[in-house]
Amino acid sequence: MINQKAGSVVFQNVRKTFGAFTAIADLSLTIEPGTLVTLLGPSGCGKTTTLRMLAGLEHPSAGKILIGGRDVTMLPANERDVSMVFQSYALFPHMNARDNVAYGLESSGLSRKEAREKAEEGMALVGLAGMGGRLPAELSGGQQQRVAVARALVLEPQVLLLDEPLSNLDARLRRKVRTDIRELQQRLGFTAVYVTHDQDEALAVSDRIIVMKDGEIAQSGTPRELYEAPASSFIADFMGEANVIPCEVIRIEGAEALIRVAGVDHRLPGRSAKPGMAKLAVRPGSITIAAPGQQGLAGRVLHSAYLGGHVEYEIETDVGTLFIIDHAVERNLPPTSDVTLGFENRGIALINA
Ligand SMILES: Nc1ncnc2c1ncn2[C@@H]1O[C@H](COP(=O)(O)OP(=O)(O)O)[C@@H](O)[C@H]1O
Ligand SMILES: [Mg+2]
Repeated sequence: MINQKAGSVVFQNVRKTFGAFTAIADLSLTIEPGTLVTLLGPSGCGKTTTLRMLAGLEHPSAGKILIGGRDVTMLPANERDVSMVFQSYALFPHMNARDNVAYGLESSGLSRKEAREKAEEGMALVGLAGMGGRLPAELSGGQQQRVAVARALVLEPQVLLLDEPLSNLDARLRRKVRTDIRELQQRLGFTAVYVTHDQDEALAVSDRIIVMKDGEIAQSGTPRELYEAPASSFIADFMGEANVIPCEVIRIEGAEALIRVAGVDHRLPGRSAKPGMAKLAVRPGSITIAAPGQQGLAGRVLHSAYLGGHVEYEIETDVGTLFIIDHAVERNLPPTSDVTLGFENRGIALINA
């Protein structure tokens, strides 16, 4: 019987240098047991380094790491009670799937028979019952990926680590496999730390997302918080496209801010804004389009592209060229059309930087 545990993860002021290069300056974070938390950020921001320190494949230059409340900072990988699913899967090509899954169990002291039974159970868990006899080369990319997940799960780690687990799959499979991983994590209730550079993937699978930039946390929160209330233009842009528009905060009224964009006033959640110049991050789907000459922001269509379910526009305005996604495909405005733009109440956030 596979008995899933769920440990917490804590980083306390963790620092990691490689020679003179500081990859992580001072990282502190907490991951609650039983949650799936994603480390998201552009290539080179320190995601893999963070995961490898958690796995015990790298040691911090300073600071502490706790797993399930136990200080593991200096423990080797095999004493940490974590298992990792690698980007490349790292399956043994000459061993069949069952033996790949059983390998770690046998190394940890189970008899061959026990290890094989548990491996079969792990294969069933990831939907590969009956396929244990196949070699990795006889499995599809998605199936190999599941074998790698099964191999990690049968070790019953406190924390499962996944480093860009979908990057070797083609685009169509990625959506399915990410749903499978999330479903398995929720069903079994294990703690997972998931690394990706893909914001859609992060939004789709995570309880919480930690966005990293240059080895630091740029912002962390639920997918919704990050998407709807980005703290900076970096986050707004990284978590899906956003138009960043200069605005003036006129005054704060309770929880709301009265702001002015190109002479037109709007009320928004204040988010600790102060009167003065600021920026608005506006999602492409949160700009409304109306006939010209009305109250709002005047614009002129530069480009339009019909994409079946929606039309994409670039519209020139006094505050810059705005990128807009419009679901009213029937109007399909041609270039040079004059329009009036407005903002919806959602998908628009005040940011300070
Ligand atoms: N073993 C190493 N030696 C020197 N520099 C490294 C080493 N590992 C990673 N780095 C550097 O640390 C930074 C973070 O790398 P990494 O954690 O792999 O980023 P990510 O996974 O977010 O793409 C990069 O600038 C990378 O070049
Ligand atoms: Mg990486």
